[in-house]
Amino acid sequence: MKVIVNLTLVELAVVMGKQGRDIDKKHADEYVGGYALAIDMTARNVQDKAKKQGLPWSAAKGFDTFTPISDFVPKKLIQDSSDVELWLKVNDQLKQNGNTQDMIFNVPTLLAHVSSIMTLEVGDVLLTGTPKGVGQVKPGDNITAGLQLPGSSNILAQLKLQAKQRQGGFVFDE
Ligand SMILES: *[C@@H]1O[C@H](CO)[C@@H](O)[C@H](O)[C@H]1NC(C)=O
Repeated sequence: MKVIVNLTLVELAVVMGKQGRDIDKKHADEYVGGYALAIDMTARNVQDKAKKQGLPWSAAKGFDTFTPISDFVPKKLIQDSSDVELWLKVNDQLKQNGNTQDMIFNVPTLLAHVSSIMTLEVGDVLLTGTPKGVGQVKPGDNITAGLQLPGSSNILAQLKLQAKQRQGGFVFDE
């Protein structure tokens, strides 16, 4: 059976500009080098099977090409990481459309938390969560996603890709 990719999650990605460990939320912004737009893809059936068996499911997110990331967006173009719009379309149908103000944990909170566990290095990319509307993609589907500031038609980062059925490799065993 084939791998079913039915989770596509558009996310604001933070690119570290300075090494940090135990980052203080109040100073977290100093560690941000910039941003990017990313899509977190998951092989749902691989993930479900591993979860059911109580096994780690990193492989479900680890297939080649599963986290496409846009070009780098310099920090100066995004004054407030808590007010950025993200959207994702599959075959021109809007599936996700949200603002980072609805994030459960804002960027400073995430940087403080993650750096309390692991040192964040310059160039590390941290994905931050996704708006509702996670959906399935099939081979041949065209996915576009964008990042922009509210009230602006200027797209700061964009991703355009087509889902493909890879030949060979992993076979999902139910
Ligand atoms: C995706 O885009 C290609 C190229 O424009 C087009 O040929 C194809 O039909 C599109 N796929 C779907 C599912 O709409």
